[in-house]
Amino acid sequence: MLIKRPRGWEMPERLATPEAVYRDRRRFLAGLPAVALAASLPGGMLLPAAARAAAPDPTADLYPAKRNEKYVLDRPLTAEKHATTYNNFYEFGTSKDIWKEAQERLKIRPWTVAIDGMVEKPFSIGFDELIRKMPVEERLYRHRCVEAWSMAVPWSGFPMAALVALAKPLGSAKYIEMKTFLDPKVAPAQKQSWYPWPYTEGLTVAEANNELAFIATGLYGKPIPHQNGAPLRLAVPWKYGFKSVKSIVSFTFTEKRPKSYWEVAQGAEYGFWANVNPAVSHPRWSQAKERVLGTSEQVPTQIWNGYGEFVAGLYAEMKGEKLFM
Ligand code: MTE
Repeated sequence: MLIKRPRGWEMPERLATPEAVYRDRRRFLAGLPAVALAASLPGGMLLPAAARAAAPDPTADLYPAKRNEKYVLDRPLTAEKHATTYNNFYEFGTSKDIWKEAQERLKIRPWTVAIDGMVEKPFSIGFDELIRKMPVEERLYRHRCVEAWSMAVPWSGFPMAALVALAKPLGSAKYIEMKTFLDPKVAPAQKQSWYPWPYTEGLTVAEANNELAFIATGLYGKPIPHQNGAPLRLAVPWKYGFKSVKSIVSFTFTEKRPKSYWEVAQGAEYGFWANVNPAVSHPRWSQAKERVLGTSEQVPTQIWNGYGEFVAGLYAEMKGEKLFM
């Protein structure tokens, strides 16, 4: 997906915390009750970032969520270590190895989500309050990146249709635009002016109401790791992975089709629909097969990523649209 590879903003190796040190600090902090730790600090001093990270997650009781057995896989689950250490999250760098950066830098509490645009009454809501209003469950989904790798993971979260119902869109709203946070202090890559930050994606309201469209808040029976898009990200498994926007701060209902991040960055290669189709090549590579993450296996890619029974009908009447890019 790369368009340029400037490296000036990247953190020099010497400033990065070595993994062993980082893990040890976490292990130490995890062993201390947060209250005792806070009490040991002089006069209400703010907890350092690492200590805050060790504070208990207020949504932890929601996981592991009950699995919805309707969504079955045709392959083994990807090992957790692969799905959580091989990531695309351009805000933290163009390499796949951004998990430490995301864990250290992204602060997910407090986290406010705006629901606005063409809705009965626009509002903002804290993530911890939002999730308590939603029917949380676990689903096993495949994920197919446009770069021709794939994984199969247990997301937890809630159907996007439940969020649409909470939003109460006006009848004239046709699309939902979703945006990731914008904060170059947290995500240094957002200083790069040649990328159209913040990362933006869109779905039609009909797609969002499709039963497969899912807002993921957990992974492998735990709150979702920062590098996978905490505290909430989209999972639309019939589309290429770039549609599944991470760390969402707003859902805007609109009658105008949103322009997504990759469409703006490189419109000749990436479009709005981005439905998976092995017969339609990317301009620079074939989409016929996919590399299964954590293995050296190449398997054939399936149209709609194998989810045609759920979603093909959404597009049956559409004419003249580039549905597969
Ligand atoms: N969302 C944001 N905000 N930034 C990104 O760079 N990358 C996308 C998508 N969502 C991306 C994003 C791409 S290209 C893919 S394949 C998936 O996230 C990767 O999700 P994963 O890291 O959880 O596997």
